[in-house]
Amino acid sequence: MFCHDDIVKLRRHLALVVRWQQLKKRGAAITAVLFFSIFALVGAIVNVAWINGPTFSSAARMALFGTPKGRLKCTNSSGSLKYTCPRNNYPTDHQVRQSSSSCPSYFQWIHEDLRPWREMGITQDMIRGARKTAHFKLVIVNGRAYMEKYKPSLPARDQFTLWGILQLLRWYPGRLPDLELMFDCDDRPVIRRKDFQGPRKPPPPPLFRYCRDDWTLDIVFPDWTFWGWHIFLSSWHVYMSCRPDVNIKPWKQSLKDIKEGNERTVWEERVPYAYWRGNPYVCPSRQDLLKCNVSDKYDWNARLYIQNWNEQAKAGFKQSNLANQCTHRYKIYVEGWAWSVSEKYIFACDSMTLRVRPNFYDFFARGMVPLKHFWPIRDNSKCTSLKFAVEWGNNYTDKAKGIAEAGSQYIHEDVKMEYVYDFMFHILNEYAKLLRFKPTVPAGAVELCPEVMLCNATGRHKEFMIESMVESPSESAPCTLPLPYEPAELQAFLDLKANSTRQVEMWENEYWQNQNRRN
Ligand SMILES: *[C@@H]1O[C@H](CO)[C@@H](O)[C@H](O)[C@H]1NC(C)=O
Ligand SMILES: *[C@@H]1O[C@H](CO)[C@@H](O)[C@H](O)[C@H]1NC(C)=O
Ligand SMILES: *[C@@H]1O[C@H](CO)[C@@H](O)[C@H](O)[C@H]1NC(C)=O
Ligand SMILES: *[C@@H]1O[C@H](CO)[C@@H](O)[C@H](O)[C@H]1NC(C)=O
Ligand SMILES: *[C@@H]1O[C@H](CO)[C@@H](O)[C@H](O)[C@H]1NC(C)=O
Repeated sequence: MFCHDDIVKLRRHLALVVRWQQLKKRGAAITAVLFFSIFALVGAIVNVAWINGPTFSSAARMALFGTPKGRLKCTNSSGSLKYTCPRNNYPTDHQVRQSSSSCPSYFQWIHEDLRPWREMGITQDMIRGARKTAHFKLVIVNGRAYMEKYKPSLPARDQFTLWGILQLLRWYPGRLPDLELMFDCDDRPVIRRKDFQGPRKPPPPPLFRYCRDDWTLDIVFPDWTFWGWHIFLSSWHVYMSCRPDVNIKPWKQSLKDIKEGNERTVWEERVPYAYWRGNPYVCPSRQDLLKCNVSDKYDWNARLYIQNWNEQAKAGFKQSNLANQCTHRYKIYVEGWAWSVSEKYIFACDSMTLRVRPNFYDFFARGMVPLKHFWPIRDNSKCTSLKFAVEWGNNYTDKAKGIAEAGSQYIHEDVKMEYVYDFMFHILNEYAKLLRFKPTVPAGAVELCPEVMLCNATGRHKEFMIESMVESPSESAPCTLPLPYEPAELQAFLDLKANSTRQVEMWENEYWQNQNRRN
């Protein structure tokens, strides 16, 4: 139907060639070991000495990156999966520097999300209670990951979430405690606070997902897009939900691309309007936003575009390329069906983010402060809010640019991939401390490791997995988790955010009163 498949094939091929060249550069000795390992792999699991200290065995590396000719051959002659998880894939004794750095402040929300279980702990029964909506159960025992799958999730979500956890195990080998958890890959949180908090109510089931709101108790975990995301254009859900982009590289690469894009256009030279491009269907709030588009009759200072997937595919995704979207001084963030994965890409742009008041938050959003990192936009009067915000920014360019830079820096620094892994590490570690039982491998579970997951993946997904793979363990320990907020401290922080939003709303009111008086 379109030429996209060919592009994918070409890129995949190039990626493997590049990988192979990178490996080749590491010297003849390594090449020899790699050569050996191709043969060794055919037999069984081999015990190859570590090269250059704490990296992964070259046999494992070879299995993951494919042969020089291109493809990793995953099946034997009768078509069954050839690989099983190697017994000794991870360095166990690698030394790390103690980390002196303290984690970004949003890590404090780890304590808040786990607070419901702080006193009573987590029992196996409570976890069982979360089974109803979960897509899978994850068990980690002795540094190895096992999964019990309950139902299919939306494409790529469960696979990439699990992939991310495997990379975490490679990044901090031997550091994760044994644990067992339920994960729900759908958009909206489901553990309603009112069902579980109060006298004679049961304890809430602990359930991991990608976002929550003020009325729910789901535990927030980084979403799958940090390891890349691609959805096929024919999918029903591209049209039926608020997907911002269909072809997103792993976060590390996306950040780099966006940074390069940012350097191409300085803030002052960007288009002085508010920009949004996305899928407005089936989200009332986004459809409402479209009413603010510039028209013959009135200019609300907004330039809004509908993502046209088919055209984009034909043009090789040029327009939806994230790095090419940083062309305006202001960018609008508006939620989809729940939180939107687009948030981090929008904020990364060095444009001032105009954030339509959200209901849902992902793991990093709660640390962001209005007027410091973004400009708050009313949800119930988007157009007047946008008009004022853009005019204000163009009047006070230094201030707007300052907010743009602070927001962007938050994403580039505090949400860089190393901190995403640190966040995962700390939330899993804190969660495991609450468990009141010793996790064991369930009878029906499958063991997961990169070899098996890569063999099971195809096309773009496989390419993203290769790209986002952790190649050697971290040289330093995770950042230091901040202590929980004191209640008064937490309240002050929430007040600060509410006050800043109120401040902007007061300015807006004043502005529109003056406008109306004039007309
Ligand atoms: C292929 O693998 C399956 C599962 O491991 C095994 O049962 C089968 O005997 C293998 N077939 C050949 C031809 O090696
Ligand atoms: C918004 O207005 C611009 C400029 O007139 C136009 O190109 C664009 O298609 C409009 N967007 C929508 C969603 O109608
Ligand atoms: C921007 O400056 C113009 C001209 O000084 C003024 O009329 C307008 O009210 C200002 N708007 C805002 C939002 O500050
Ligand atoms: C591999 O893919 C098949 C089919 O998509 C799926 O049923 C199976 O659970 C996958 N296995 C793993 C380990 O992900
Ligand atoms: C927020 O505003 C209230 C009332 O205007 C004030 O009493 C309070 O000190 C402010 N809090 C912060 C953190 O700015």
